[in-house]
Amino acid sequence: MQLIDTHGRVATDLRVSLTDRCNLRCQYCMPAEGLEWMPTEEVLSDDELVRLIGIGVRLLGVRDVRFTGGEPLLRRGLPSIIAATKDLPGSPRTAITTNGLGLERTAGALAAAGLDRVNVSLDTIDPATFLTITRRDRLHDVVAGLAAAKAAGLEPVKINAVLLRGVNDHEAAELLHWSLEQGYELRFIEQMPLDAQHGWNREAMVTADETLALLSAHVDLRPQAGRGSAPAERFLVDGGPGTVGIIGSVTRPFCGDCNRVRLTADGQVRNCLFAREESDLRAALRAGASDEEIARRWVAAMSTKLPGHGIDDPSFLQPTRPMSAIGG
Ligand code: GTP
Ligand code: 5AD
Ligand code: SF4
Repeated sequence: MQLIDTHGRVATDLRVSLTDRCNLRCQYCMPAEGLEWMPTEEVLSDDELVRLIGIGVRLLGVRDVRFTGGEPLLRRGLPSIIAATKDLPGSPRTAITTNGLGLERTAGALAAAGLDRVNVSLDTIDPATFLTITRRDRLHDVVAGLAAAKAAGLEPVKINAVLLRGVNDHEAAELLHWSLEQGYELRFIEQMPLDAQHGWNREAMVTADETLALLSAHVDLRPQAGRGSAPAERFLVDGGPGTVGIIGSVTRPFCGDCNRVRLTADGQVRNCLFAREESDLRAALRAGASDEEIARRWVAAMSTKLPGHGIDDPSFLQPTRPMSAIGG
């Protein structure tokens, strides 16, 4: 069995959201007061999660497992979930996408548990701008977390930055220079309509083209070949070796090459970030279904995967769940 959709795409990259909770309040993600979090009993236990990941890896061809959130470091069982994932046949590659808070303390233990890589969200290196965007004064912790990840060998350490017009777009080149100096691989992401407040607006979005123009005023950029299914287009900066990535999810969609499938913290399979339907693996699991039955349900969930996200279609509807509950 494999996770193939009706357009011939095969999902081998599983993104698992471990919690919808977060300790930042990024303005492009959630309101200042936070959100109503999932009730604890709805969230999969560590054992349930590991069983589903095991079904993905042993029966369905999953090769890469990325843990996301909300904020995945808030999940206490993270090291043991990573260790159990690494122990599965074929030893899948493991990664996390985190806001970096607490990474300074945990990077060593996560690497020891078998974590291979880490991507850290960081939109600015100016403390005041950081406070404006995340509504928390924690820049120092993120910077320390990045250094700890590098020291623990979780390389390449990547940084995800969302540019907001008039807020941090003028700092893009500064963030790039800093990232290159520190040895991190920076990627700029187009803002997507996935915020809990439903406040996204296409005109306000800083596009991939704009970001490239902003950066090109400061550095020479040469496109690199060999992107595969990766969301980021990479550019060599000033002849290299440093690179910068552009994730143009909206204006340069990579849906045609998508190899992803998602599992939410409450055990729902989503065949796309923008899927309008979910498939309830938790219900099957808690009703006593066998691994094979769950695998079949998972395969069936792929059949409704749309060819693209359709953000530009007049009929586009933002998913009911926000990014923090789907997993980044
Ligand atoms: P690497 O393998 O390290 O390059 O990871 P990644 O870029 O796939 O993962 P990461 O979690 O760092 O995601 C970076 C950004 O890519 C996210 O913020 C999303 O904006 C975007 N992204 C990830 N997965 C998808 C997807 O399935 N569809 C779309 N449209 N965007 C995605
Ligand atoms: N559009 C694009 N990226 C987003 N992220 C969070 N919300 C959005 C959005 N609406 C980013 C975070 C993190 C990654 C998982 O997704 O900054 O780096
Ligand atoms: Fe938290 Fe990530 Fe949302 Fe920021 S973007 S509030 S770090 S889940």
